[in-house]
Amino acid sequence: MTVTRPLCAAFALITLSSALWFPSAASCATLPAGTTSSVVAPAAMSDDEQTPDAGEAPPFKPFARVSSLMAGIGSAFGKIGEALPQTDDEHRLDAITAWSEVIAELSNVNTQHRRKPDSYLEMAADTRSIALELSRAARAEVPDEAQLKALFTNLDNSCSTCHDADH
Ligand code: HEC
Repeated sequence: MTVTRPLCAAFALITLSSALWFPSAASCATLPAGTTSSVVAPAAMSDDEQTPDAGEAPPFKPFARVSSLMAGIGSAFGKIGEALPQTDDEHRLDAITAWSEVIAELSNVNTQHRRKPDSYLEMAADTRSIALELSRAARAEVPDEAQLKALFTNLDNSCSTCHDADH
């Protein structure tokens, strides 16, 4: 089994809330783009070691049900909605960045679910990329308020597209 780079972020996120072992974020950081790496049980691996050569990681499989991912995505979405109008709050852009990335990451995990319709993966990926765009827009040197609002609307629409589909 191989671990691809996009999955590393998901592993890192899930490791935060799971007592089970996953490849550490540090081992992901050492992975050059486009390459894969095999990993072993944690006892055989120190932080300095880069690519352990024994054992295989289990295939990535989400633990959270879609309804639980949605509880997280929905709550993050609400936080962005609260933060957007608070233009005098100095932590507002950081909050928008963080909650957008949480939506992107949970949507990344959502792409691993195989729900109906066939376009499920595509719709989850669409939400993921809009959420990432929003996080980038919030990190811009001079954030464009109109763009932030437009992306939030796009994000909202991407949720509805999937919710309106027949699951
Ligand atoms: C690719 C499909 C898909 C996308 C995109 C999606 N959702 Fe969902 N969402 C679902 C499905 C499927 C359910 C029903 C889950 C269930 O009950 O099993 C759901 C349910 C929900 C729920 C109700 C949770 C519950 O079950 O109690 C909320 C809240 C929610 N989504 C928020 C969002 C928000 C906010 C977005 C966009 C940022 C979003 N979703 C994007 C598929 C999606």
